Amino acid sequence: MKHNLDKILTIELANLPTPIQEAKKLAEAIGLSKLFIKRDDLTGLAGGGNKARKLEYDFSEIVNGGYDVVITAGGVQSNHARMTAAAARKLGLDVKLVLGGPDFESAQGNLLLDVLFNVEIRYLVDDDANTSLESEMKRWSDELLIAGRKPFVIPIGGSTGLGALGYVKAMEELSYQCKHGNVQIILGVGSCGTFAGTILGAQIFIPDARVIGISVSRAAEAIRKRTLELIEESARLINYKISKNINIECYDDYHIEYGLMTDAGKQAIDLAANLEGVLLDPIYTGKVMSGLIDLTEKGIVSKNNPVVFIHTGGMPILFSFESELGITLNCKKIYK
Ligand SMILES: Cc1ncc(COP(=O)(O)O)c(C=O)c1O
Repeated sequence: MKHNLDKILTIELANLPTPIQEAKKLAEAIGLSKLFIKRDDLTGLAGGGNKARKLEYDFSEIVNGGYDVVITAGGVQSNHARMTAAAARKLGLDVKLVLGGPDFESAQGNLLLDVLFNVEIRYLVDDDANTSLESEMKRWSDELLIAGRKPFVIPIGGSTGLGALGYVKAMEELSYQCKHGNVQIILGVGSCGTFAGTILGAQIFIPDARVIGISVSRAAEAIRKRTLELIEESARLINYKISKNINIECYDDYHIEYGLMTDAGKQAIDLAANLEGVLLDPIYTGKVMSGLIDLTEKGIVSKNNPVVFIHTGGMPILFSFESELGITLNCKKIYK
């Protein structure tokens, strides 16, 4: 278990350690003996979420490398983009975002927060394919270079071997907080960095843990391939020799198209809100909770072993889903 994780430079951006809370009523409703929520939605950085841990590594490279402008990309409601904008502003850097998705009338949710950070945005209407977003980032970076700037491009979702170290470190943190060795750790998977870091970190710090990924966009096979690449990259960076076969357990049955809410996801959001006062979101964590419920029902997640649900954030997205959430206001207006 030799590694040099602590030698890799970081810059402080997140409020760590995040709390871990037992969710007894939700556990009972799902039929689990024990359920804990690791509150990475409370990392801070303009609304919290998993990306704060990754950005501590990326921004260290940016600041130490003397870059003056940061470019990143994502979907219209990208949490990663919003948190990158916040980090750049905190550190006095310029920031540009390439976003893509359906056309919109007004800025809501994460996009509203991007606007508050006064970010220059290029928006690919009806196109959020990774290849289009990446080529627009490259074009913008080239333009900035020609203009004499020093741009740093953070890939979509911040998922690099370096960024994934944020979740290797998170597993060290979890190993101090949760003494159940046989724990089942469940989390959402998009660009795979969080999943990769969690699997590698669990192997190092909580070797008896089982890590379960719930896809929010891609097919399980593509996730396994990309996650393994990232695990190997992260392990190289910290000089860690992967000691056993890596089992990448991932389910892709709980999403439809990326960015759309599912009925089961909506029910999971309602359940967590009403039983625990915890807010999940329609694109990521709501789907993960719906996956946990279904996998427990099917006996794939063991009822007897404790579960840690990593709450990766995403709360601002709720504020762009008013109509899909079917909000009916139970409010009696009283005029004096
Ligand atoms: C709230 C939330 N959860 C989970 C994820 C998935 O993380 P990753 O892209 O590292 O797989 C994201 C990524 O955007 C996210 O914003």
